Amino acid sequence: MTYRDHFEQIVQDQLARVEAMKDAPAAADYASKEKIVIGTIDGDGIGPIIMDSARRILEKLLTEDIASGRIELRRIEGLTIENRIAKMETVPADVLTGIKGCDLLLKGPTTTPGSGSGMPNLESANVTLRRELDLFANVRPVSIPEKNIDWIFFRENTEGEYALGSRGVDIGEDISIDFKVTTTIGTTRLARAAFEYAKNNGNQNVTIVTKANIMKKTDGRFLSLCREVARDYPKIAVDDWYVDIMAANLVSDLFANRFHVMILPNLYGDIITDEAAQLQGGVGTAGSANIGGRYAMFEAIHGSAPRMVADGIAEYANPASLCRAAVMMLRHMAMTEAAAKLESALDEAAEVLDMPGDGTGHTAADFTAFVVDRL
Ligand code: IPM
Ligand code: MG
Repeated sequence: MTYRDHFEQIVQDQLARVEAMKDAPAAADYASKEKIVIGTIDGDGIGPIIMDSARRILEKLLTEDIASGRIELRRIEGLTIENRIAKMETVPADVLTGIKGCDLLLKGPTTTPGSGSGMPNLESANVTLRRELDLFANVRPVSIPEKNIDWIFFRENTEGEYALGSRGVDIGEDISIDFKVTTTIGTTRLARAAFEYAKNNGNQNVTIVTKANIMKKTDGRFLSLCREVARDYPKIAVDDWYVDIMAANLVSDLFANRFHVMILPNLYGDIITDEAAQLQGGVGTAGSANIGGRYAMFEAIHGSAPRMVADGIAEYANPASLCRAAVMMLRHMAMTEAAAKLESALDEAAEVLDMPGDGTGHTAADFTAFVVDRL
């Protein structure tokens, strides 16, 4: 295929994606649903260990709803790196069918083969699922009460640098080119979700984070569309920052607690939310929600921790991040009481248990027993 054909194909695929977005379903109303199926996906590395913890905790918390059949916890098997490589599919077709039979998903971390890892070049399962299920908003809250910090990040989740991450081109020995995509619908629906959240949660300011001085087309469009959406929310103050200085602001005692709701393109959101989670106490402590119209997927913000597995200390993995994701899932289902109950048990666990992740202190099983005991 010539470079011109490759680029033409990319443009056609993106135009088709835009058409599909136009038909995307409105947000589901879980409160009025008779039955909700929650698929649990173990993932790789420490995934099965932390998911075992999350399932036991949810089984206790939701005993009645599970018994009455209103909620089903359904195990989705086969989203493992071994099975994905054996089938040479990022998300094997039968696994994807199983996933699409659920309403909500709780997902453990999955391995993404990096270039140079010796594994075949499979796309990240996260990226594929976010795209296949059209999970356009990645919502990541971070709170640091002692610093009066209460942040919530709305990261664009299906486009930007990720949309064509596996479709860049090498041109001979000398050049490599990747592509970044911003669409009007993709940006507008994310911005709307962020402003609606701000309005409904009493937040008075929203911050847009880009690098529009350099990425003039894509981030330029992103910034101007966010500002356009902002006009529908005259009571909310809006400012915008470039991502580099924003990375500095978040560690500035003077500025950090002035930010509340933040909107970011995909890759900046990826980086900034790890920084923010680290400030809160580590990437093991933050939950992450991937929200779409028909589906929503909740996951730990961290990866599968292959080093912990290689060092034989996987049982010391902290299930807190995945359990925080479960709290977000319960809120998404409008089960606010159950969410609050779980959240306070997790807060208590964070205070009492010592889980540095280096093979000392408490194990995931200790964590499970502690939390289950408090529900
Ligand atoms: C995240 C992760 C993923 C991402 C990886 C695992 C593909 O870092 O959810 O932040 O880059 O989005
Ligand atoms: Mg990340």
